[in-house]
Amino acid sequence: KRIAVFASGEGSNFEAIAAACERGAIAAEVALVVCDRPGARVTERAAARGIACFAFAPKEYASKADYEREIVARLDAVGVDLVCLAGYMRILSEVLLGAYGGRIVNIHPSLLPAFKGAHAIEEAVAYGVKVYGVTIHWVDATLDGGRIIAQRAFAYDGDDVHEVERRVHEVEHELYVETIDKLVKA
Ligand code: GRF
Repeated sequence: KRIAVFASGEGSNFEAIAAACERGAIAAEVALVVCDRPGARVTERAAARGIACFAFAPKEYASKADYEREIVARLDAVGVDLVCLAGYMRILSEVLLGAYGGRIVNIHPSLLPAFKGAHAIEEAVAYGVKVYGVTIHWVDATLDGGRIIAQRAFAYDGDDVHEVERRVHEVEHELYVETIDKLVKA
C-alpha cells in the first residue's frame, strides 16, 4: 500500500511513520509528503529519507480549492491508498474530501471530543486535566470531528506543558504506527 503524510511543521510523526514503513512495522510505503510551509522541518526530513515532497505556499494560489486540486492531482499521480494528516494545520475542503474522503485520517493530541483545535495541550493543562491522551480519527469537513478510530490515554498530575507534550508525542508515534498498519491491512 501507498500512503501520503501531510504536515505543516516539525514532522516527528512523519519521521515515526516513515521509519516504521522502512522496518516493516507498517505494511506500506510513504509515497508522498505534502507540506503547506515550504521551509518547514518536515521537508528536510522527507529529503533526508529520499521521499518525494510537495511543499507549497497557499498564498501563491487563488484559493484553497486551487491548491487542493493540485494536491489531489499529485496524490492521484503517485497512487495513494491512505492519507495521514500529521500536524497539518488546515481544514480540508470539499475538493480533497470529495476525492479522498473515507481514506483520510488525522491525529489529535487530546482525548476527543475534548479540546479540539490548535491548542489542545495548553488548554488541557490549564483546565487541570489528570488523564491526557491522543486520538486518531477519520477526517470530515468538521474541525477534529470525524469518527474515532483509536485512542490512548495516560495519567499525568502536574502543570508542565513541555512534559505533557513530550509524553503526547511518545504516545502519538506509537499509536499512529500501530493504527496505520491496521488500516492498510484491513
Ligand atoms: C502533533 O501533536 C499532532 O497531534 C498535532 O500536531 C503535532 C504535530 O507534531 N496535530 P509533529 O509535526 O508530527 O512533530
